[in-house]
Amino acid sequence: MTVHKIVLLADPVLRQKAAPVEQVDDEIRQLMEDMVETMYDAVGIGLAAPQIGISKRLIVMDCAKDDTSPEIWKMINPEIISRSEETTKMEEGCLSIPGYNGDVTRPAEVEVRYMDIDGTAQQMTATGLLAACVQHEIDHLDGVLFIDYLSRLKRDMMLRKIAKDPAFK
Ligand code: NI
Repeated sequence: MTVHKIVLLADPVLRQKAAPVEQVDDEIRQLMEDMVETMYDAVGIGLAAPQIGISKRLIVMDCAKDDTSPEIWKMINPEIISRSEETTKMEEGCLSIPGYNGDVTRPAEVEVRYMDIDGTAQQMTATGLLAACVQHEIDHLDGVLFIDYLSRLKRDMMLRKIAKDPAFK
């Protein structure tokens, strides 16, 4: 298994629309294993393939609490098929924007259609932290980042700090 380097905010791959995966084969399965490894190595709860420089519609997540067993999700071509009217605000961060957080308001519950690693169509309903996480990760596949949801004032302040932050050089 390979831990990949995570690309940071300035990388244009984070702003691209990722391509759908046509065929679920061993290469894709290996890549998703590597993504899980990379996510754990970075102590994150979700990772999208563009964050390791691969513009494909793949995400992995594990939003289980520290004191419970892992709950690994691997989703190929995930798509939100319904969103609740009810919203919740949660503090989000991103492995591609390390050290910066912001409150994001999103639908509290979503239904997601995706393919699993056997290429079988699946559907899941997400609430709570998992709902925020899956929306955040699917956003990555469309070139959207959590900072896009902040007010212009907050976003500009954050971007000014990041511009001076040696971690992003
Ligand atoms: Ni992210």
